Amino acid sequence: MGGGMFFLVCLMLLAHSSILVRPKKLNDNSLEGKNIFILAGQSNMAGRGSLVPMPSECQRNPRILRLNAKLTWEEAQEPLHQDIDIHKTCGIGPGMAFANSILERDSARVGVIGLVPCAVGATNITAWQRGGFLFNQLVERAQAALRDGGRIRGILWYQGESNTDNLENVKGYKGKLETFFKDIRSDLKLPQLPIIQVALASGQNATYTEMVRKAQLEIKLPNVTCIDAKGLQIQSDKLHLTTEAEVRLGKMLAGAALKIMEHI
Ligand SMILES: *[C@@H]1O[C@H](CO)[C@@H](O)[C@H](O)[C@H]1NC(C)=O
Ligand SMILES: *[C@@H]1O[C@H](CO)[C@@H](O)[C@H](O)[C@H]1NC(C)=O
Ligand SMILES: *[C@@H]1O[C@H](CO)[C@@H](O)[C@H](O)[C@H]1NC(C)=O
Repeated sequence: MGGGMFFLVCLMLLAHSSILVRPKKLNDNSLEGKNIFILAGQSNMAGRGSLVPMPSECQRNPRILRLNAKLTWEEAQEPLHQDIDIHKTCGIGPGMAFANSILERDSARVGVIGLVPCAVGATNITAWQRGGFLFNQLVERAQAALRDGGRIRGILWYQGESNTDNLENVKGYKGKLETFFKDIRSDLKLPQLPIIQVALASGQNATYTEMVRKAQLEIKLPNVTCIDAKGLQIQSDKLHLTTEAEVRLGKMLAGAALKIMEHI
């Protein structure tokens, strides 16, 4: 190839790459692209609220996606955890109300929300420690969620009812919860990843439930905030939030997430 020809080819390539296929430049701080949230914990995060009638706050929206068990994105709909929390019948959780509420309150800035359900019913904090199935599954799903772009904006965490059955389970709770938060951030290589946790609304024993709540409310790690579910309506099983309560919780979580995203 002669020098002139080479120059011409280079020029064409340059023009092609810079004009024709240059991707739309996104401001690095923008909330466009996929804003990914991980949902983890136990049954009240997975959802046990009645699916009928479906509240308007939980309707599907083309801008809300869900990473399914096959690690593929699809349009999200309740029950979000149906192929993750597979040993129980899933219902309404906070996830769709959370995502719809964010879009309603900040739709101009927020592009698409990607939800990564990881919660499994009746799981104690020991079962969530590093090396266990739940921890590994969360990390694997979070990594898969990032494969075609987007940013993980936070973890929504609601767990602890399974640690309210005896004193031994309560005693180690705070330390194990902190360790879980630190380890998950470290393994996701997101040391400042915001975590929004929920302080219990219910448990198996009132005294122990108060002790677990105290541990949750006392966690003082940077970028870990706590939403209090106490007082939200509980079903007749005395453990699970009603659909209405899950919707309210979803909106509370959205408020906390938007506060974090203000700084982005
Ligand atoms: C926590 O859950 C694990 C796994 O389900 C179980 O083996 C263990 O006995 C539980 N731990 C306590 C302290 O209840
Ligand atoms: C908290 O997270 C936000 C968003 O990722 C980040 O900008 C901020 O620096 C973090 N703050 C702390 C104290 O880690
Ligand atoms: C909680 O458990 C303790 C110890 O077993 C028991 O003394 C107490 O009555 C229980 N409290 C409730 C409200 O169930």
